[in-house]
Amino acid sequence: MTQVEDKGLRTAEPPTADVADAADAAAAWWRSAAIYQVYTRSFADSDGDGVGDLPGVRAKLPYLAALGIQAIWFNPWYPSPMADAGYDIADYRDIEPVFGTLADADALIAEAHALGIKVIIDIVPNHCSDRHAWFQAALAAEPGSPERARFWFRPGRGEDGSLPPNDWQSIFGGPAWTRVRAADGTPGEWYLHLFAPEQPDFNWTSPAVRAEFEDVLRFWFDRGADGIRIDSAALLTKDPELPDLASDPRPHPYEDRDDVHEIYRAWRRVAESYGGDRALIGELWIPDPERFTHYFHDDELHSAFNFPYLCSAWDAAELRSVIDATIRIHAPVDAPPTWVLSNHDVDRHVTRYGRADTSFGMDRREHGRPVDVELGTRRARAAAMLTFALPGAVYVYQGDELGLWEVEGIPSELRQDPIWQRTGGTDPGRDGCRVPLPWSGQAAPFGFSPAGAPARPWLPQPAGWSGLTVETQTGDPRSMLELYRAALRIRREETGLADGPMRWMPSAEAVLDFVRGDSLRCVVNLSAAAVGLPQHREIVLQSADLVEGMLPPDAAVWLR
Ligand code: GLC
Repeated sequence: MTQVEDKGLRTAEPPTADVADAADAAAAWWRSAAIYQVYTRSFADSDGDGVGDLPGVRAKLPYLAALGIQAIWFNPWYPSPMADAGYDIADYRDIEPVFGTLADADALIAEAHALGIKVIIDIVPNHCSDRHAWFQAALAAEPGSPERARFWFRPGRGEDGSLPPNDWQSIFGGPAWTRVRAADGTPGEWYLHLFAPEQPDFNWTSPAVRAEFEDVLRFWFDRGADGIRIDSAALLTKDPELPDLASDPRPHPYEDRDDVHEIYRAWRRVAESYGGDRALIGELWIPDPERFTHYFHDDELHSAFNFPYLCSAWDAAELRSVIDATIRIHAPVDAPPTWVLSNHDVDRHVTRYGRADTSFGMDRREHGRPVDVELGTRRARAAAMLTFALPGAVYVYQGDELGLWEVEGIPSELRQDPIWQRTGGTDPGRDGCRVPLPWSGQAAPFGFSPAGAPARPWLPQPAGWSGLTVETQTGDPRSMLELYRAALRIRREETGLADGPMRWMPSAEAVLDFVRGDSLRCVVNLSAAAVGLPQHREIVLQSADLVEGMLPPDAAVWLR
């Protein structure tokens, strides 16, 4: 950027093509970045209360810089009663006291920038917390008031209004409506919550709601945020008639409605007013590719998470078809594909890949089935190399780089996820992928909290993680951590691995084999037998030892 400005000023001529290209590439950092997801609550606890915090993250920024990532996405860090781990926000312009202060966030953003790391924050526009000032005001106000118009309040059905206004179910289980009571205890209207009752849905037909969120975006862009991850991005607008789902209404009354796009066009204008390097990234679970890519027209979002890739089984044909489809649908809208293996909502992929059924379904139906952790780990190594060789941006969820597995045996009384509560335990929920990171030492808290901390980590860490700490893995060339460090370094240095085309090579069945740039070739063996390697000058990186010069099952190699 500075370079371009200097040149422009001195010569009063437009920048040369090279300089302009470099500046464009820097502005479009989100097209090819390796983005590390920090789940603050479980990353590093600086003050010993058993919960991770922003000073904890600040202390570990050198670790992240050395890992070789270019951006961090933080899960919501705002004041929250934590009914849904911070996705119930009470104040969009402050920091949760357990995590720190606004000054901590400012310092963290500045220090990340000094290390060349971009900062993506999480904005939750579909709903807030029931403790948010606007919802409290709505509860205190009368039916039909402007305060209630910022949410979805409706009278109940039935003679005494004791039935919910429609048949919608909460995504976390149970009805999507809760009835409120007046101060004297008389039952009143119902309000809509697509998630937990503590997460009332905003009414996006309200101009006040629209103006408020545009202002929240500016608040964080002003503080230096480089990108926004938009939570539940396709759910914001609702059919004002609120029809029963049983009546099979078309279009869907709250998923991916056409009128949601206006919102993102307005957000894009806000982002562009900051000079074009601020990214909007959607959490979109939309199966129809046509509808999915609609969000990336050049006046809306920049990119989105690739959930079909995450959900895919460890199967060459399935992965190949997801990769092809991803590239095919992103190309016409000039959006970068993204590749993600895990996040804070899904079973960790070491565990998924170690099960008989290696695909992932949001109902977590495979939970508790036998897991071969060794096999899952071996596949996770190969999957990381596959992922980092694909064109576009990649996501790393904290702990992926350590090969952490899903903690399935958390005692019921310690589980925190509302999904567990609201499904009466039939769905175990997401706590198992949110367990605090092991940094060092032989026993819990594994350096997550300072020595002698009064509180235990908010979720218990398994004793078996003693072999997976950052300390143990550092310097061990066979560790997952060193594989990630090497792969991310090569990915950054090899221009052929940046955003750009890929070419499939003819290969044996159940083998993925493709070339990036002029000379970098990635071969992944998902078959049950070892396969021969194509001609090569050099092995750049490998996930496992070769066997008599052959690539063994569930292994990957980068060749030149
Ligand atoms: C998104 C988040 C998830 C959260 C939900 C409700 O799916 O990733 O963690 O529970 O939205 O905000």
